[in-house]
Amino acid sequence: MWHGRFKKDMAADVLDFTQSLDIDWRMAECDIKGSLAHVKMLGATGLLKADEAEKIALGLEKVLEEVKAGKFIPSKNLEDVHMNIEARLTEIEPLGAKLHTARSRNDQVATTTRLYLRERLKILRGGLKNLLQVLISNAEKHLNIIIPGYTHMQQAQPISMGHYWLAWFEAFYRDLERLDFALKSLNESPLGAGALAGSTLPIDREMTSKLLDFDCPTRNSLDTVANRDYMTDYHYFASVFMIHVSRLCNDLITWNTQEFAFIILPDEFCTGSSMMPQKKNPDVLEISRGKTGQVIGHLIDLLINLKGLPMTYNRDLQEDKRGLWASLDTVESVVKILTSLLENVEVDEKLALAGLEKGYSLATDIAEYLVLKGVPFREAHLKVGKLTGWCIENKLSFNDLSLEQWREHIPEADEDILKILSPRESVNRRNTYGGTGFSQVKIQIQNAKRQL
Ligand code: ARG
Repeated sequence: MWHGRFKKDMAADVLDFTQSLDIDWRMAECDIKGSLAHVKMLGATGLLKADEAEKIALGLEKVLEEVKAGKFIPSKNLEDVHMNIEARLTEIEPLGAKLHTARSRNDQVATTTRLYLRERLKILRGGLKNLLQVLISNAEKHLNIIIPGYTHMQQAQPISMGHYWLAWFEAFYRDLERLDFALKSLNESPLGAGALAGSTLPIDREMTSKLLDFDCPTRNSLDTVANRDYMTDYHYFASVFMIHVSRLCNDLITWNTQEFAFIILPDEFCTGSSMMPQKKNPDVLEISRGKTGQVIGHLIDLLINLKGLPMTYNRDLQEDKRGLWASLDTVESVVKILTSLLENVEVDEKLALAGLEKGYSLATDIAEYLVLKGVPFREAHLKVGKLTGWCIENKLSFNDLSLEQWREHIPEADEDILKILSPRESVNRRNTYGGTGFSQVKIQIQNAKRQL
């Protein structure tokens, strides 16, 4: 396309090294969509005669059909998807030579990529909403199941399993908001920025922006061809999302062990061992956790690519899509498989409770009981701490103590102390806004439904 300036052709291995067809061909349909808007605008502004614009558009439609039918075999010699499509168009319709009027590949690449990313993010958004929906259903299903809540991986206080699922609803809902931010930041039209400085020709940037469903044209042509923030915004969303996934998977892997044993994973989502007949391994969860590093890696890859790049376009930017596709493919697959796994996960109510009964996770409840009897919290904490130490030494749980024994250690204790000594009561009584109390979780389930 630029042989005017050159005496020799590009060396074959340089061609191979510099082409981007292997990464950008998947955007072919979006590239044509962008060109269709561009040519319509060229016709409307009089830069092309109406019939010229129409013929070029018809040619583009034909190329689109070839692409859709898988009949278009692009050539690496033409560097990228954009040049391949323009070259094919010009074969079909010689007027195609006028298509690139007032356009550079710099604004074209940005337009095509934004259009493609928008399609993919909308699909991903649907997937993420399904995941959120499953978390709400699980919260409803498991509202009355009590599991140990942990800090430092030590039993802390009993919680409702519904409350646990809603914790992930919150985290993934924030991810949805981050995804929406990425969708918003990509939705401005680069067309008309040209190579970097705009055009001497009287184009209509508002028109192409509207035709392509962008919110508005970008405001600075230099920034337009240099900018890849809409990609870093996606990568940041993806990285935080995967960190949430990884932490969730880790909980389920842990609670699925024989030692915890209160999570039952569906058989279809597990694998066995080639040697140990008893094994049922949580591979889907492990692989999801294992993919997290790659997704974060793609964020870092792009950030490092961008760091120190001079204003405006530099060819380094061609490398921006490799990691983007890899990340999108990974995140899409994780969203999908995790959603179906969570739909089928079960909780063993008895084992979850059995784990709690061995521990001292009602210690805070007892201290708070004493606070209501007028004991200063610090003093109550000390008393219950000492009692817990004594119980551990004597291999007793709180439930083993008679009222006399309670009184020996804590003179303020009345008969009603025995009533608060159940994990269910403990959850039931944690009724502060956002707490694990059943009625609070019910409120939050309704909120989550409304929010979604
Ligand atoms: N294939 C390149 C890309 O995807 C096209 C860049 C065109 N611009 C340039 N100044 N060479 O980024």
